[in-house]
Amino acid sequence: MASPLSLSLLCHHPIFFFCFSLLFSTLLLASFSHAVASQCKNQPIIFNFGDSNSDTGGLASGLGFPINLPNGRSFFRRSTGRLSDGRLLIDFLCQSLNASYLSPYLDSLGGSKFANGANFAVVGSSTLPKYLPFSLNIQIMQFLHFKARSLELVNAGSRNLINEEGFRNALYIIDIGQNDIADSFDKNLSYVQVTKRIPSIITEIKNAVKTLYNQGGRKFWIHNTGPLGCLPQKLWLVQKKDLDPHGCLSSYNSAALLFNEALRLLCQELRSELADSTVVYVDIYAIKYDLIANSSKYGFSSPLMACCGSGGPPYNYNIRVTCGQPGYQVCNEGSRFLSWDGIHYTEAANSIIASRVLSTAYSSPRTTFDFFCRS
Ligand SMILES: *[C@@H]1O[C@H](CO)[C@@H](O)[C@H](O)[C@H]1NC(C)=O
Ligand SMILES: *[C@@H]1O[C@H](CO)[C@@H](O)[C@H](O)[C@H]1NC(C)=O
Ligand SMILES: *[C@@H]1O[C@H](CO)[C@@H](O)[C@H](O)[C@H]1NC(C)=O
Repeated sequence: MASPLSLSLLCHHPIFFFCFSLLFSTLLLASFSHAVASQCKNQPIIFNFGDSNSDTGGLASGLGFPINLPNGRSFFRRSTGRLSDGRLLIDFLCQSLNASYLSPYLDSLGGSKFANGANFAVVGSSTLPKYLPFSLNIQIMQFLHFKARSLELVNAGSRNLINEEGFRNALYIIDIGQNDIADSFDKNLSYVQVTKRIPSIITEIKNAVKTLYNQGGRKFWIHNTGPLGCLPQKLWLVQKKDLDPHGCLSSYNSAALLFNEALRLLCQELRSELADSTVVYVDIYAIKYDLIANSSKYGFSSPLMACCGSGGPPYNYNIRVTCGQPGYQVCNEGSRFLSWDGIHYTEAANSIIASRVLSTAYSSPRTTFDFFCRS
């Protein structure tokens, strides 16, 4: 099962991180304590599907792939399997509801708790190929198994597991697509060839939402994909660079924007097709691109350089010596970087991204994140 998910695949996979300042994060935590006073009437239950942007330990538990310090250094003070120095967007979203962080579905140890949902996201995942672990389709199949097994155990008297009503009222989050687009470019497909693959990626996401809907799910929260062409890893990898005014790869960002437009239209279509559903589309691209374009306003100095990597400026990225591999260099704790490892964002960036998501300004329709547990 594990063999197709080769390490080289992992190495090419988009993951973003940013380094962060303690002072700033303290301020953000203070602002989060307002969000924490959420209006949940029901206990919030969340199921998340996606890639490294929201993997809270799935790769480490699923494949035993070691993810070591300095990952986790700023918040958890140990590696948790997240590709960041600290919390991810999904963690901040859970925190805003005063809910526990989501346990990775594949974490089989007794400490894992699934009363508040489960996280199916795994580093490197894409929608296609459909049957390669851990594609979106496979994550959905895992969810079907999880649901059937939970109900079986609940019926046999287990507590602290999710019942039928819990599954119906849960929020279903999908954050995937970045690797589909990135992989296409990595295979040397032309821009036109890359964009031709978008409809089949969208079909996979549509199938996923419909399957969840047919299972009784009604509340969906769908993140679009970020500006792929601003990742230090991509900037380092691509030889012939067509840079935009902010120093990002234009073709990569254009492909991401085309995907996002198709995803936005899909959400619109699903809203009318799926009776009684709420499908919220969140413009993560706009949030991240603003952070990069206006980085100095947010106190970040080198938005296209990884905190943890090798090679120094301009990108501090080298695929042969990535973050955590022998020879890597990491920025000082407290210095402000947007990118953690050239693919994934830092906790400092993620906390800003989360506050933007929670503002509702980037959501269509404009919906508070706690909408699913309010009534
Ligand atoms: C958050 O959860 C904890 C433990 O479940 C509870 O004691 C606390 O009152 C909650 N806080 C808010 C603001 O809901
Ligand atoms: C893509 O093209 C580059 C440069 O022409 C080459 O070095 C690389 O091996 C190619 N990759 C694949 C997967 O064909
Ligand atoms: C940068 O900030 C300005 C002023 O707030 C805003 O108008 C602009 O849209 C931002 N740039 C991006 C790329 O979001």
